[in-house]
Amino acid sequence: MNFAELFNRTGLIGAHRGARSIAPENTLRALKVSVGHCDFMEVDVQLSSDGVAIIMHDDTLERTTNVNEIEEYKNREPYNVSDFSFKELSSLDYGSWFDGKFEPLLTLSEALQFIKENRVFLNIEIKDMHKSFSDEQVVLLVLKEVEEWNVEELVMFSSFRHEYLPLCKERLPDVITAALVEDTHPNNLMEYLKSLHVDGYHMNDELADKESVQKLRLAGFFVNVYTVNDPFRAQELFEMGVNGIFSDFLE
Ligand code: G3P
Ligand code: MG
Repeated sequence: MNFAELFNRTGLIGAHRGARSIAPENTLRALKVSVGHCDFMEVDVQLSSDGVAIIMHDDTLERTTNVNEIEEYKNREPYNVSDFSFKELSSLDYGSWFDGKFEPLLTLSEALQFIKENRVFLNIEIKDMHKSFSDEQVVLLVLKEVEEWNVEELVMFSSFRHEYLPLCKERLPDVITAALVEDTHPNNLMEYLKSLHVDGYHMNDELADKESVQKLRLAGFFVNVYTVNDPFRAQELFEMGVNGIFSDFLE
Protein backbone atom coordinates (compact mmCIF):
# COMPACT_ATOMS: atom_id res chain seq x y z
CA MET A 1 0.00 0.00 0.00
CA ASN A 2 1.25 3.50 -0.75
CA PHE A 3 0.47 6.66 1.23
CA ALA A 4 -2.34 7.76 -1.14
CA GLU A 5 -4.15 4.42 -0.68
CA LEU A 6 -4.01 4.81 3.10
CA PHE A 7 -6.35 7.80 2.77
CA ASN A 8 -9.13 5.65 1.37
CA ARG A 9 -9.61 4.82 5.04
CA THR A 10 -10.82 6.69 8.10
CA GLY A 11 -9.79 6.38 11.75
CA LEU A 12 -6.13 7.05 11.03
CA ILE A 13 -3.74 8.28 13.71
CA GLY A 14 -0.78 10.51 12.83
CA ALA A 15 2.00 10.80 15.39
CA HIS A 16 2.33 14.58 15.76
CA ARG A 17 6.06 15.53 15.65
CA GLY A 18 6.66 11.86 16.47
CA ALA A 19 5.04 10.79 19.71
CA ARG A 20 5.63 14.15 21.32
CA SER A 21 3.98 13.27 24.62
CA ILE A 22 6.43 10.43 25.29
CA ALA A 23 9.63 11.48 23.54
CA PRO A 24 11.27 14.79 22.58
CA GLU A 25 9.38 16.07 19.51
CA ASN A 26 10.88 15.77 16.05
CA THR A 27 13.75 13.48 17.11
CA LEU A 28 14.71 9.98 16.03
CA ARG A 29 13.64 8.73 19.46
CA ALA A 30 10.15 10.14 18.84
CA LEU A 31 9.93 8.34 15.50
CA LYS A 32 11.20 5.08 16.98
CA VAL A 33 8.63 4.98 19.79
CA SER A 34 5.82 5.72 17.31
CA VAL A 35 6.43 2.62 15.20
CA GLY A 36 3.48 0.24 15.55
CA HIS A 37 1.39 2.81 17.41
CA CYS A 38 0.21 5.04 14.57
CA ASP A 39 -0.72 4.93 10.89
CA PHE A 40 1.71 7.65 9.88
CA MET A 41 4.15 10.09 11.48
CA GLU A 42 4.48 13.83 11.07
CA VAL A 43 7.61 15.98 11.31
CA ASP A 44 8.40 19.61 10.53
CA VAL A 45 11.26 20.42 8.19
CA GLN A 46 13.34 23.59 7.95
CA LEU A 47 16.66 24.55 6.37
CA SER A 48 19.86 25.47 8.16
CA SER A 49 21.54 28.73 7.05
CA ASP A 50 23.67 26.66 4.66
CA GLY A 51 20.70 24.83 3.18
CA VAL A 52 20.60 21.45 4.97
CA ALA A 53 17.09 20.10 5.61
CA ILE A 54 16.64 19.45 9.33
CA ILE A 55 13.71 18.43 11.52
CA MET A 56 12.50 21.17 13.89
CA HIS A 57 9.18 22.82 14.66
CA ASP A 58 9.82 26.26 16.11
CA ASP A 59 11.44 29.08 14.13
CA THR A 60 13.80 29.57 17.07
CA LEU A 61 15.94 27.12 19.01
CA GLU A 62 15.44 27.96 22.67
CA ARG A 63 12.38 25.83 23.52
CA THR A 64 13.61 22.46 22.24
CA THR A 65 17.42 22.70 22.45
CA ASN A 66 20.10 23.75 24.93
CA VAL A 67 21.21 26.70 22.76
CA ASN A 68 20.93 29.30 25.52
CA GLU A 69 23.23 27.29 27.81
CA ILE A 70 26.13 27.46 25.35
CA GLU A 71 28.60 30.30 25.86
CA GLU A 72 29.57 30.44 22.19
CA TYR A 73 25.98 31.21 21.14
CA LYS A 74 25.22 33.80 23.85
CA ASN A 75 25.07 36.71 21.35
CA ARG A 76 22.91 34.86 18.80
CA GLU A 77 19.45 35.72 20.14
CA PRO A 78 16.67 35.25 19.09
CA TYR A 79 18.29 31.95 17.99
CA ASN A 80 16.58 31.72 14.63
CA VAL A 81 17.06 28.27 13.11
CA SER A 82 17.74 29.95 9.75
CA ASP A 83 20.74 31.85 11.26
CA PHE A 84 22.53 28.66 12.36
CA SER A 85 24.68 26.51 10.08
CA PHE A 86 24.25 22.75 9.91
CA LYS A 87 27.50 22.34 11.89
CA GLU A 88 26.19 24.64 14.63
CA LEU A 89 22.78 22.94 14.74
CA SER A 90 24.55 19.57 15.01
CA SER A 91 26.33 20.73 18.18
CA LEU A 92 23.06 21.12 20.14
CA ASP A 93 21.09 18.76 22.39
CA TYR A 94 17.47 18.19 21.33
CA GLY A 95 16.38 15.89 24.17
CA SER A 96 17.45 17.22 27.57
CA TRP A 97 14.77 19.95 27.70
CA PHE A 98 12.20 17.14 27.62
CA ASP A 99 13.49 14.46 29.99
CA GLY A 100 17.14 15.16 30.70
CA LYS A 101 18.38 12.69 28.07
CA PHE A 102 20.59 13.88 25.22
CA GLU A 103 19.17 13.55 21.72
CA PRO A 104 21.05 14.60 18.57
CA LEU A 105 19.72 16.74 15.72
CA LEU A 106 17.58 14.75 13.30
CA THR A 107 18.18 15.56 9.64
CA LEU A 108 15.56 14.98 6.97
CA SER A 109 17.96 12.52 5.37
CA GLU A 110 18.17 10.46 8.59
CA ALA A 111 14.38 10.55 9.00
CA LEU A 112 13.97 9.27 5.44
CA GLN A 113 16.47 6.49 6.02
CA PHE A 114 14.46 5.53 9.11
CA ILE A 115 11.12 5.39 7.30
CA LYS A 116 12.65 3.41 4.46
CA GLU A 117 14.13 0.83 6.84
CA ASN A 118 10.92 0.59 8.89
CA ARG A 119 8.44 0.93 6.00
CA VAL A 120 6.39 3.63 7.74
CA PHE A 121 4.61 6.66 6.26
CA LEU A 122 5.84 10.18 6.98
CA ASN A 123 4.06 13.51 6.56
CA ILE A 124 6.78 16.10 5.94
CA GLU A 125 5.43 19.50 6.91
CA ILE A 126 7.57 22.12 5.18
CA LYS A 127 7.75 25.17 7.45
CA ASP A 128 7.33 28.61 5.92
CA MET A 129 10.86 29.81 5.11
CA HIS A 130 10.06 32.55 2.61
CA LYS A 131 11.96 35.14 4.66
CA SER A 132 15.25 33.28 4.16
CA PHE A 133 14.91 31.17 1.00
CA SER A 134 13.02 31.32 -2.28
CA ASP A 135 10.12 28.87 -2.64
CA GLU A 136 11.99 27.07 -5.43
CA GLN A 137 15.12 26.68 -3.28
CA VAL A 138 13.13 25.21 -0.39
CA VAL A 139 11.28 22.70 -2.53
CA LEU A 140 14.43 21.71 -4.40
CA LEU A 141 16.47 21.12 -1.23
CA VAL A 142 13.72 19.14 0.51
CA LEU A 143 12.57 17.05 -2.45
CA LYS A 144 16.04 16.10 -3.59
CA GLU A 145 16.46 14.17 -0.33
CA VAL A 146 13.25 12.26 -0.96
CA GLU A 147 14.45 11.43 -4.47
CA GLU A 148 17.86 10.34 -3.18
CA TRP A 149 16.30 7.93 -0.68
CA ASN A 150 13.71 6.85 -3.26
CA VAL A 151 10.84 7.05 -0.77
CA GLU A 152 8.23 8.94 -2.83
CA GLU A 153 5.56 6.35 -1.93
CA LEU A 154 6.17 6.72 1.80
CA VAL A 155 5.95 10.50 2.13
CA MET A 156 3.36 13.24 1.93
CA PHE A 157 4.15 16.97 1.84
CA SER A 158 2.08 19.62 3.59
CA SER A 159 2.62 23.28 4.32
CA PHE A 160 0.98 26.45 5.57
CA ARG A 161 2.91 28.15 2.76
CA HIS A 162 0.74 26.94 -0.08
CA GLU A 163 3.14 28.23 -2.74
CA TYR A 164 5.36 25.19 -2.05
CA LEU A 165 2.65 22.65 -2.88
CA PRO A 166 2.28 23.03 -6.67
CA LEU A 167 6.08 23.14 -6.87
CA CYS A 168 6.25 19.78 -5.08
CA LYS A 169 3.78 18.28 -7.57
CA GLU A 170 5.67 19.76 -10.49
CA ARG A 171 8.85 18.05 -9.42
CA LEU A 172 7.35 14.79 -8.12
CA PRO A 173 3.91 14.35 -9.74
CA ASP A 174 3.11 11.10 -7.90
CA VAL A 175 3.81 12.37 -4.42
CA ILE A 176 0.78 13.38 -2.33
CA THR A 177 0.36 16.90 -0.95
CA ALA A 178 -1.99 18.63 1.46
CA ALA A 179 -2.73 22.29 2.21
CA LEU A 180 -2.52 23.24 5.88
CA VAL A 181 -4.79 25.91 7.35
CA GLU A 182 -5.08 27.35 10.82
CA ASP A 183 -7.62 30.17 11.33
CA THR A 184 -9.97 30.33 8.35
CA HIS A 185 -10.84 28.36 5.24
CA PRO A 186 -9.59 30.04 2.05
CA ASN A 187 -12.35 31.52 -0.16
CA ASN A 188 -13.84 29.19 -2.78
CA LEU A 189 -12.14 26.33 -0.99
CA MET A 190 -12.64 23.51 -3.52
CA GLU A 191 -11.54 25.62 -6.48
CA TYR A 192 -8.62 26.93 -4.48
CA LEU A 193 -7.43 23.42 -3.56
CA LYS A 194 -7.76 22.29 -7.16
CA SER A 195 -5.63 25.24 -8.25
CA LEU A 196 -2.90 24.06 -5.84
CA HIS A 197 -3.11 20.50 -7.26
CA VAL A 198 -3.26 19.08 -3.74
CA ASP A 199 -4.74 15.73 -2.72
CA GLY A 200 -5.72 16.64 0.82
CA TYR A 201 -6.58 19.30 3.34
CA HIS A 202 -5.17 19.57 6.86
CA MET A 203 -7.18 21.81 9.15
CA ASN A 204 -7.07 22.97 12.71
CA ASP A 205 -9.60 21.19 14.94
CA GLU A 206 -11.42 24.47 15.54
CA LEU A 207 -12.30 24.68 11.84
CA ALA A 208 -13.58 21.13 11.52
CA ASP A 209 -17.33 20.67 11.21
CA LYS A 210 -19.54 18.14 9.48
CA GLU A 211 -20.46 20.36 6.55
CA SER A 212 -16.94 21.34 5.55
CA VAL A 213 -15.61 17.79 6.02
CA GLN A 214 -18.38 16.27 3.89
CA LYS A 215 -17.92 18.81 1.10
CA LEU A 216 -14.18 18.16 1.01
CA ARG A 217 -14.61 14.39 1.01
CA LEU A 218 -17.25 14.57 -1.72
CA ALA A 219 -14.90 16.68 -3.83
CA GLY A 220 -12.30 13.91 -3.50
CA PHE A 221 -9.89 15.43 -0.98
CA PHE A 222 -8.69 13.50 2.06
CA VAL A 223 -9.06 15.41 5.32
CA ASN A 224 -6.80 15.28 8.36
CA VAL A 225 -7.27 17.36 11.51
CA TYR A 226 -4.68 18.64 14.01
CA THR A 227 -4.06 18.50 16.94
CA VAL A 228 -6.54 16.13 18.54
CA ASN A 229 -5.67 14.69 21.93
CA ASP A 230 -9.20 13.88 23.14
CA PRO A 231 -10.40 10.39 22.04
CA PHE A 232 -14.06 11.49 22.13
CA ARG A 233 -13.34 14.37 19.79
CA ALA A 234 -11.35 12.02 17.55
CA GLN A 235 -14.35 9.70 17.31
CA GLU A 236 -16.64 12.62 16.50
CA LEU A 237 -14.30 13.72 13.70
CA PHE A 238 -14.08 10.21 12.25
CA GLU A 239 -17.89 10.01 12.24
CA MET A 240 -17.94 13.24 10.20
CA GLY A 241 -15.74 11.51 7.62
CA VAL A 242 -12.33 12.83 8.63
CA ASN A 243 -9.62 10.43 7.48
CA GLY A 244 -7.01 11.03 10.12
CA ILE A 245 -6.02 13.07 13.12
CA PHE A 246 -2.65 14.28 14.36
CA SER A 247 -2.22 13.41 18.00
CA ASP A 248 0.47 13.93 20.63
CA PHE A 249 -0.76 10.81 22.43
CA LEU A 250 -0.63 7.36 20.88
CA GLU A 251 -2.50 4.37 22.38
O1 G3P B 1 0.86 19.23 10.27
C1 G3P B 1 -0.07 19.31 11.30
C2 G3P B 1 0.43 20.16 12.44
O2 G3P B 1 1.73 19.74 12.77
C3 G3P B 1 0.44 21.62 12.09
O3 G3P B 1 0.80 22.42 13.16
O4 G3P B 1 2.34 23.93 14.32
O5 G3P B 1 2.17 21.56 15.03
O6 G3P B 1 3.29 22.14 12.90
P1 G3P B 1 2.22 22.50 13.88
MG1 MG C 1 3.71 20.18 12.10
